[in-house]
Amino acid sequence: MNGPFSGLVSALGANETEQATAAYAATRQQCASCHVAVGRPSIVISGL
Ligand code: HEC
Repeated sequence: MNGPFSGLVSALGANETEQATAAYAATRQQCASCHVAVGRPSIVISGL
């Protein structure tokens, strides 16, 4: 699987808790960046 979820999916598949947490944080940051960029900063994806 490619794209923004690839790091998260592989970390989850490998049962790598720390990597999965970091990958989730990075993915979430990408989501937030785009929402800010499109003028919708109120769309917030909650953390863990
Ligand atoms: C390429 C830019 C972009 C990316 C990347 C992006 N979003 Fe969005 N997102 C949008 C836009 C634009 C809207 C508003 C769509 C609308 O108003 O119809 C939206 C809306 C949403 C909404 C609906 C919010 C509401 O109150 O209506 C959710 C939930 C959401 N995004 C989650 C995510 C998640 C989770 C991710 C990351 C995995 C993500 N988005 C990544 C552009 C993006």
